[in-house]
Amino acid sequence: MPATVPTKLKANLRVQRFDPESERPETFYQDYEVEVEDWFTVLDALIKIREEIDGTLSLRCACRASICGSCAMRVNGQAKLVCKTKLDSVWSPGETVIIDPPGNMPVITDLVADFKPFWDKIRQVQPYLQPTGPEPVAEYLAPNEDMVHLAGVMNCIMCGACVSDCTVLEVDDRFIGPAALAKAYRFVADPRDGKKKERLEALNGDTGIWDCTRCMQCVEVCPKDVAPMERIMVMRDQAIEEGFSGTVGARHTESVYNSVKRSGRLNETRLAIESVGVMNIPGQLAMAPVGVRALLKGKMPSPIDHKIPSKDAVKKIVEKSEETSK
Ligand code: SF4
Ligand code: SF4
Ligand code: FES
Repeated sequence: MPATVPTKLKANLRVQRFDPESERPETFYQDYEVEVEDWFTVLDALIKIREEIDGTLSLRCACRASICGSCAMRVNGQAKLVCKTKLDSVWSPGETVIIDPPGNMPVITDLVADFKPFWDKIRQVQPYLQPTGPEPVAEYLAPNEDMVHLAGVMNCIMCGACVSDCTVLEVDDRFIGPAALAKAYRFVADPRDGKKKERLEALNGDTGIWDCTRCMQCVEVCPKDVAPMERIMVMRDQAIEEGFSGTVGARHTESVYNSVKRSGRLNETRLAIESVGVMNIPGQLAMAPVGVRALLKGKMPSPIDHKIPSKDAVKKIVEKSEETSK
């Protein structure tokens, strides 16, 4: 009997294309069928397309080992390092895997995005150590545990996956974004840096730490477990501790906290008023039409606290967490 020749696996990829030099530059999808091996990554498949099927396909890659950070793009709608993503984790025979360039950045061509906005924001956070005080005789020393703590955030390879999928950047490109904020945290939390307060003050303004909606996308897609959102939340706490409490975000946090501690539940009417600022008359007036509409539709909760029966238990939990966070 003749030996059975194993049939080659063929994968279908639908790739976003964009040629800025064409007569009518616009994005479109192009389908490719490519023979793959079962060990292929998405990047292997794309490179094979470029080398054997269509030499005009542009993409960015270098190390092919999830080190350089250059190959982030969207696979089936979610940012990934394609050199780290096994093809069979995002594609099964008979299906088509969809590849787009990283989001929230202008596209230069095909799968290549312009990272200038990304790097501008990294520069904005002054990504270098700024020690103050007298220079040490030999070198700056830092406790080991502080540096171990920083190791996680220092794993960032600047791939831009978090920026690609940040839901705030999608609607407001002024937001400084998860990668730059994670980088800012790297210096805020460094005991050798002398500009912690100034850094937090800068990040406390518009487009900074309070613009994050905590959607978790950056945590989800980061290939290096940097967890930008968690770093942002720590910097919010630190900004309040440093006395920067005059923002909508800080007042919002404070209001939720006090409300839960007082009554065991959220007082939404007070939350709205306190977030804008009780003494902020223009702000309160601007919010008034929403309040009137809510009132007319019977959707305005009373500003008087409705205490839950187990409010004392909730208060104890809050107090316990206050103690443990000291
Ligand atoms: S958690 Fe915040 S920073 Fe991260 S993706 Fe969502 S909005 Fe952006
Ligand atoms: S935080 Fe993660 S996803 Fe964002 S740039 Fe750094 S490594 Fe990439
Ligand atoms: S090619 Fe370097 S991280 Fe993917």
